[in-house]
Amino acid sequence: MSDHWYKDAIFYEVYVRGFFDSNGDGRGDLPGLIAKLDYLVELGVDCIWLLPTYPSPRKDDGYDVSDFVGVHPEYGTLADFDRLIAEAHHRGLKVIGDLVLNHCSSEHPWFLSARSDPASPYRDYFVWSDDATQYKDARVIFSDTERSNWTYDAVSGRHYWHRFYAHQPDLNFDNPKVQDEMMGVADFWLRRGLDGFRCDAVPYLFEREGTSCESLPETHAFVKRLRAHIDANFTGRILIAEANQWPEDLVPYFDGEFQMAFHFPLMPRMFMALRQETKKPIVEILQRTPQIQDGCQWGLFLRNHDELTLEMVTDAERDYLYEEYAKDPQMRLNAGIRRRLSPLLGGSRRRVELLHGLLLSLPGSPFLYYGDELGMGDNVYLGDRDGVRTPMQWSSDVNAGFSRAEPAKLYSPVSMDAVYNYQSINVEVQNRSEASLLRWVRRMIRARKTTRAFGRGALAFVETENERVLAFVRTYEKEEVLVVANLSRFVQPASLAMGVHAGKRPREIVGEAVFPVLTERYFLSLGPHAFYWFRLETPT
Ligand code: BGC
Repeated sequence: MSDHWYKDAIFYEVYVRGFFDSNGDGRGDLPGLIAKLDYLVELGVDCIWLLPTYPSPRKDDGYDVSDFVGVHPEYGTLADFDRLIAEAHHRGLKVIGDLVLNHCSSEHPWFLSARSDPASPYRDYFVWSDDATQYKDARVIFSDTERSNWTYDAVSGRHYWHRFYAHQPDLNFDNPKVQDEMMGVADFWLRRGLDGFRCDAVPYLFEREGTSCESLPETHAFVKRLRAHIDANFTGRILIAEANQWPEDLVPYFDGEFQMAFHFPLMPRMFMALRQETKKPIVEILQRTPQIQDGCQWGLFLRNHDELTLEMVTDAERDYLYEEYAKDPQMRLNAGIRRRLSPLLGGSRRRVELLHGLLLSLPGSPFLYYGDELGMGDNVYLGDRDGVRTPMQWSSDVNAGFSRAEPAKLYSPVSMDAVYNYQSINVEVQNRSEASLLRWVRRMIRARKTTRAFGRGALAFVETENERVLAFVRTYEKEEVLVVANLSRFVQPASLAMGVHAGKRPREIVGEAVFPVLTERYFLSLGPHAFYWFRLETPT
């Protein structure tokens, strides 16, 4: 893989706690993940993203870090971490971690010292105020739980600033010591061999009165420093921004800062397009997405470990998506929906395939969320986002083959849902069945890898005379791929305006079937939710 390896890569998000339990304590761990690396290689994954594995009181599942340079004892040791990296690299897999820059746990020794002693060297590691009305233009993100971004701390007698839970005090990036400290954290993990980071909650590092306190110039300046430092000391490592912002607001993050950023606004629009049976939302957001620099790439995803966030849609669109995808209030959380992919799509295999077909072919690198390759379900009766973090379903054995612990000891119940239960939905069963979703996903990943146009190509929409049919061409060097997708649940005709491509011969990528040569107006009929990938060849 080249220096721009991330452009061709398939990413896979691993929740270590829920992946595989090697020691029978009811919780997944690093040795467990090592034992399952071959599964990921077989799936065709190139890079795994580990959710936080730091020591933590786990009030936000590890995003409340109490030691940035350690491993949570439930997960194993630093030696296990090193072994994971070695074993992954040995198999050609890259590994990125989660760099939680913005905040730490209120149980972190820095905060414990800062709150209890005004003279503490860590006092200025946090943002304190006597005035809880400061920065009032900053929105509250965890709006179901927190009323304010300030919390009064009785020990220090002052308020401290936090963009997330009150137990996650924000670090004060105006303090150069904090900046250096966090650069040191990045160094620590990169020296151990990590291939980069998904950087958590990037926009919120600095606060300034009269602003939204998001994506401030100071934040960009810090990330530029971090990137320059990494580039100067390591090769081939990447930074990926978790910045839930509009595409145009992400452009500065690509300027000497991140190689990748998640495309947050595209994701809900894929769900909208599917429900409304029109390509419009997808086309509009991609037309609004600016060109990004050469070495940069979008991260595409359908679901992740959080709620399906609806921050990057209008109020009317949010109401629509809630109504269509989360009728039961139990399914809603903050400004989002806490459900997994398959149940969101009513368990429809065709819809799941269609969305994967787009995920794997639109401009960017796809991120799969563990278990979605099986069509795992969720449990909306668990608290917070725990319902999308239930144990990986490996087999029909006790505890879904995830753990040998007594079932009552598991960190979370396994799915016993009538449709998504582990006895029917698991790796072992799906490995056996040729028609399973798992084997289909594997085939599609392989098919994607037959061309670099998906990861690197330019995108041009193709007019289809049917708003229910999305078509586009991806072009990279000499390779051209035509993608046609029917967003409707009924059969649809499409008349594709092939323009300069007329005269080329389409060869369907998965089955290699050769289609009639393209004409200026090329007629295709598509089955319900069907999508096709064609390689365009020049007839000899
Ligand atoms: C992570 C969440 C986490 C939050 C606070 C995010 O954006 O994805 O899981 O709760 O940051 O760290």
